Amino acid sequence: MAHRWTNKLTRADVTPEAVFLNRRQILAGLGAGAVVGLPGRSAAMEDLEPNTLEEISSYCNYYEFGTGKGDPKENAHMLTTDPWTVTIDGMVERPGDYSFEDIMSRMTVEERIYRLRCVEQWSMVVPWNGFELADLLDLAGIAPEAKYVAFETVLRPEEMPGVKIPVIDWPYVEGLRLDEALHPLTIMATGIYGKPIPNQNGAPLRLVVPWKYGYKSIKSVVKITLTDSQPPTAWNKYSAREYGFYSNVNPNVDHPRWSQATERRIGDGLFSKRSPTLMFNGYEDEVASLYEGMDLVKNH
Ligand code: MTE
Repeated sequence: MAHRWTNKLTRADVTPEAVFLNRRQILAGLGAGAVVGLPGRSAAMEDLEPNTLEEISSYCNYYEFGTGKGDPKENAHMLTTDPWTVTIDGMVERPGDYSFEDIMSRMTVEERIYRLRCVEQWSMVVPWNGFELADLLDLAGIAPEAKYVAFETVLRPEEMPGVKIPVIDWPYVEGLRLDEALHPLTIMATGIYGKPIPNQNGAPLRLVVPWKYGYKSIKSVVKITLTDSQPPTAWNKYSAREYGFYSNVNPNVDHPRWSQATERRIGDGLFSKRSPTLMFNGYEDEVASLYEGMDLVKNH
């Protein structure tokens, strides 16, 4: 479908296509110091070296399967992801249940390499496969009165051992303003490294909003509702003071209990140097205009 792709921070910028697959090995051979001297590489792009599938699928947040970083990998195989339907309702022209197969048959899946910055001060870089959320919403037809998009994760206590504990008010819910949802950087991911997305990363489809803290990127979505009022979000219900609706990555706005100025990249080792966190997670050129004139401290 016809949505343009404006993210400048793509793999093509980072390294010539042909070199990509061997890049880790090449870098390992050169030693980290050699990377810095390569011409035309900004610090932001340096950060876009993808993590391995092993790293991405082993260190996860998916509290429905437990709160430990390794719990989702242990437990998420219990989730049945086929058959899967996404209910799209509310202020849409064609409300209904859309099967995953039907969605996939109508979407063009492409690769997007995004940095994921967690509110817990770590980050990783993931080569997602997916399609723009805007294209999925087009299927249902957005009604003119819609202003927000609400999302809901599947809730199956018999398959999700973590929901026995009321860490948050299940099901996990999230929300975006409609213009954020329609932004070409906002995708529904269905794969990683060209393979179906691992259950622990949100199979069969999950939201990815790269300029926001990771908790906005809700996993295993079963319901999308278009509405005219700001939807509740799981972490905001848990603590409104700590987790705002917007949750844009912002190194200048601390979490009440810790700084958000720097991050540790997963895979770099516990004693590696922390990197400065970038405004909007490095996507400032693409998304800053969405928030023009807004107080980003108040609207954190
Ligand atoms: N979605 C659901 N349903 N449950 C969760 O616990 N955790 C969020 C987000 N989506 C979460 C979720 C958080 S805190 C982060 S950082 C990302 O998923 C982590 O995605 P990853 O495990 O694929 O890296």
